[in-house]
Amino acid sequence: MKKVAVVGFGFMGRMHYGIWSKLKGVKVAAVCDSNLAQITQNAKGNISGSFSGKLPESTKVYADFDEMIAKEKLDVVDITLPTPLHPVMAVKALAKDLNVLCEKPMAIDAKTCDKMIKAAAKSKGKLMIAQCVRYFAQYAWLKDLVDSGKYGKVVAADFTRLSAAPKWTNNGPSWFLDEAKSGGVILDLHLHDTDYIRHVFGMPKTVSTIASYHTDGWMRHSATNFGYDNMVVTSSSSWAMSSSFAWESGFRVVFEQAVVVANTHSDKPTLVYPENGKPFEPKMKAKDGYEEEIKAFLAYLNGKLGEVPVSPESARDSVAIVDAERKSAKTGKVVTL
Ligand SMILES: NC(=O)c1ccc[n+]([C@@H]2O[C@H](COP(=O)([O-])OP(=O)(O)OC[C@H]3O[C@@H](n4cnc5c(N)ncnc54)[C@H](O)[C@@H]3O)[C@@H](O)[C@H]2O)c1
Repeated sequence: MKKVAVVGFGFMGRMHYGIWSKLKGVKVAAVCDSNLAQITQNAKGNISGSFSGKLPESTKVYADFDEMIAKEKLDVVDITLPTPLHPVMAVKALAKDLNVLCEKPMAIDAKTCDKMIKAAAKSKGKLMIAQCVRYFAQYAWLKDLVDSGKYGKVVAADFTRLSAAPKWTNNGPSWFLDEAKSGGVILDLHLHDTDYIRHVFGMPKTVSTIASYHTDGWMRHSATNFGYDNMVVTSSSSWAMSSSFAWESGFRVVFEQAVVVANTHSDKPTLVYPENGKPFEPKMKAKDGYEEEIKAFLAYLNGKLGEVPVSPESARDSVAIVDAERKSAKTGKVVTL
């Protein structure tokens, strides 16, 4: 039985709690949130599926992380806190040899990610970063398709992730719009695609990013060209969509022998347009990325997988690419990695 604590009971904390609490061989022993009102009020977010019930009496509630890790005998600490607190709490938990699942972005910049990697290297606990997009059905399917070579090489790939500005926390003004805390749209949202692009195509040689900024100074829309040999890879992300548009993510990948399109806004979310034959909807198992990433970490902890499913090094490299994208947007220059 793995004893788990979820730290930060906001939007993602409730999402992760709901998944852990359904898994066999797991007991959610504790939940921690410095704002105890969060324990009883439902969180606000841009996607559905987050836990909205009451915690059972058997789950202890803490307002203080240090007190919780001192008092509870835990196997796993799941960090779903605002981004600046990821390294703080992860380092403390790893120092106690606890296993840590930490929400993306791993930290605000690559230098801070390195501190977490050092702490993990000294610990008996393992660190995994929750890069959920790698686990969502369409994205896991696309990676397998690229690796299989079924439709030849990738000629071009374009990824989009478009949202209204995240103004939805319960705790007063949204911390997401403070770039010092969230890293802004290019880290908090666009990192999902940067990480996925690196996961599928490897490290790009260069990045070239353009951006638009809100009158209050925060970046509201970005577009990046990722430099690869003979393959055009681009991605746009936004916090500038109207509230009635709300949300869309997807990709269009041009292979030598087919085009593949995925769009969360469409009633046919994934379509394959082969060179020979008619367009069709590929069969794939429905997979919730949050559930799959948590199950993968649990499988690893139970000795069923050889390596940490999302290594902190790989997540750190994705944050390093975003650091370079931000620099490119600011300077107007291509940045070499
Ligand atoms: N993977 C995804 O798709 C996804 C989606 C949304 C958010 N996130 C990430 O998850 C993290 C959390 O985001 P969120 O939307 O849940 O934010 P949120 O504001 O809804 O929740 C954060 C919670 O942490 C609590 N908290 C703050 N300081 C604390 C402390 N010192 N000790 C204990 N609790 C504390 C807050 O009271 C709040 O309840 C962020 O890093 C964000 O980028 C990931």
